[in-house]
Amino acid sequence: MCGIVGYIGSRPAREIIINGLKRLEYRGYDSAGLAIINGETKIFKCKGRVMDLEEMVNKTDFNGTVGMGHTRWATHGEPNELNAHPQISYKGNFIVVHNGIIENYALVKKHLQSRGIQFTSQTDTEVLANLIEHLYLEGDLTAEQAITMALNRVEGAYGLVIICAKETDRLFAAKKGSPLVIGVGEGENFIASDATPIVEYTQRVIYLKDDDLAVIMKDELILKSIRPKNIEPEVKQVDLKIGEIDKEGFPHFMLKEIFEQPRAIHDTFRGRVLPDHSGIMLGGLHTVLETISKSERIIIVACGTSWHAGLLGEYIFEEFARIPVEVEYASEFRYRDPIIKKGDIVIAISQSGETADTLAAVKLAKERGAMVLGVCNVVGSSIPRETHAGVYTHAGPEIGVASTKAFTTQVTVLAMMAFEIGFLKGVISQDYYKTLIDELVSIPDKIENALKVNDQALELARKYKDTRNALYLGRGYLFPVALEGALKLKEISYIHAEGYPAAEMKHGPIALIDENMPVVVVATRDDTYEKIINNIQEIKARKGNVIAIVTEGDELIKKMADYVLEVPATLPSFSGIVAVIPLQLLSYHIAVLRGCNVDQPRNLAKSVTVE
Ligand code: G6P
Repeated sequence: MCGIVGYIGSRPAREIIINGLKRLEYRGYDSAGLAIINGETKIFKCKGRVMDLEEMVNKTDFNGTVGMGHTRWATHGEPNELNAHPQISYKGNFIVVHNGIIENYALVKKHLQSRGIQFTSQTDTEVLANLIEHLYLEGDLTAEQAITMALNRVEGAYGLVIICAKETDRLFAAKKGSPLVIGVGEGENFIASDATPIVEYTQRVIYLKDDDLAVIMKDELILKSIRPKNIEPEVKQVDLKIGEIDKEGFPHFMLKEIFEQPRAIHDTFRGRVLPDHSGIMLGGLHTVLETISKSERIIIVACGTSWHAGLLGEYIFEEFARIPVEVEYASEFRYRDPIIKKGDIVIAISQSGETADTLAAVKLAKERGAMVLGVCNVVGSSIPRETHAGVYTHAGPEIGVASTKAFTTQVTVLAMMAFEIGFLKGVISQDYYKTLIDELVSIPDKIENALKVNDQALELARKYKDTRNALYLGRGYLFPVALEGALKLKEISYIHAEGYPAAEMKHGPIALIDENMPVVVVATRDDTYEKIINNIQEIKARKGNVIAIVTEGDELIKKMADYVLEVPATLPSFSGIVAVIPLQLLSYHIAVLRGCNVDQPRNLAKSVTVE
């Protein structure tokens, strides 16, 4: 999950590449590098962030109109300058930036070493660069031939941009598994891991497909295959505005994205809810709706926060569509020979649409004959292109590594799907359908109100920022919210946190409760309300600190809990996306107060494109 940017044209490449890398830093940020061509090729690399690279590069005037850059998330070899990309082949003829993993690198390396070729880094990328060089020199091939031959000999996943020092009027780009997008300009062309670094310059893009090899020149673009066949490039229009990827005055992307949720959810249902609220029409599912409504089982596959959205989806689907649902971690599903029966529907949920395990789960489910649907945010990403049908969340770019608006918009999509299918199946009446849609349409305002707890969340964060552990509890629809709240806290503030179904507390976690243990109880009013009150009493009896998320006006819990954060009342099926807001804010403020890098927490990446 590294980020790649390449440029060829007439403008100074350095600035375009550095700016592009900043936009891609969410993909990885442990080291960065840049190659610029101007007669000679100069490489700049450093451990650390794009900012550090920029500082280094700014010490020279060297610039050119061709170049490429990389921001890394280490897979092979620790993050240091040697292992940073670009990697250069042993005679210096090939310069390579790479996202992905070359799985048979050890074998190839051994073979090359036996031919006397020396390696300077621990990366799989250098192995590929050296293989290309070796074939180029031994076989007296052109750069294109050597790259094609090498790519036919390696296994694994890659998004690659390659410069040949002897043919500097072109960039070579190749894709298998890891995404690459070409931006088509006038007298200039761009290449990047996603469209965000490109949209500032052009909205015309080509998504490379697996096995594509692109030869990108200033005025020309040739699309080939590493297999023997030629391809017609298909240019698409991307609808992404540059303002959508700036912080817009917020100190962090995460906070901006938390506050964007009313708008994001509105965009998720906009144009999909009939004006009189009598129905929902999800265009992407139009042709398969009948099949879904007849299915006997739905399997949801996802990772991380998207998995939590899937868990909420299970509750919603079973209640409203009456279809049994299983929710699986994509990484488990893909490796455990799952039973997929005829008529099963697999729904893959992924913000990025690129998560390697989720993508592999999609491919496996397809091979086994399931109809596969996608619920993704990034338009044109790999998962939506692999699935039979699907629904985009339309949340806009999510840059903060901790997922916020992706979660609430994913749940919104799953609710819309369940309601539409439930109505089609006759499980819910027209009146009830309309009530659900009325409530859906009111959710952006309710979230706007829930966001008013921001100051209180900051106050609470000041009290709890030094805690070492925290427990999050919820029941029913609020159990996945407890899991999500705990994940938010641990991923950005490095505080250990566990989410549990509140009743399970008695089977273990209760032993942890003492006067130092903050317990966040998600206790908005629904069918499990009475039960969770008992759980709060059990915690208080053991001197635990209770922070309760409650429905506005709840006087009962206010008397029992140490602190309450209030959110507006809603139907149980939407309670998750309203109650999660204070939890997002609480973890955000705790992380900021602890001096953590909120948008780019250590060891994490926004899009995990390695398994
Ligand atoms: C990474 C991110 C998480 C995200 C997960 C799944 O771990 O840091 O925020 O929830 O991947 O990503 P996806 O793009 O598939 O939703």
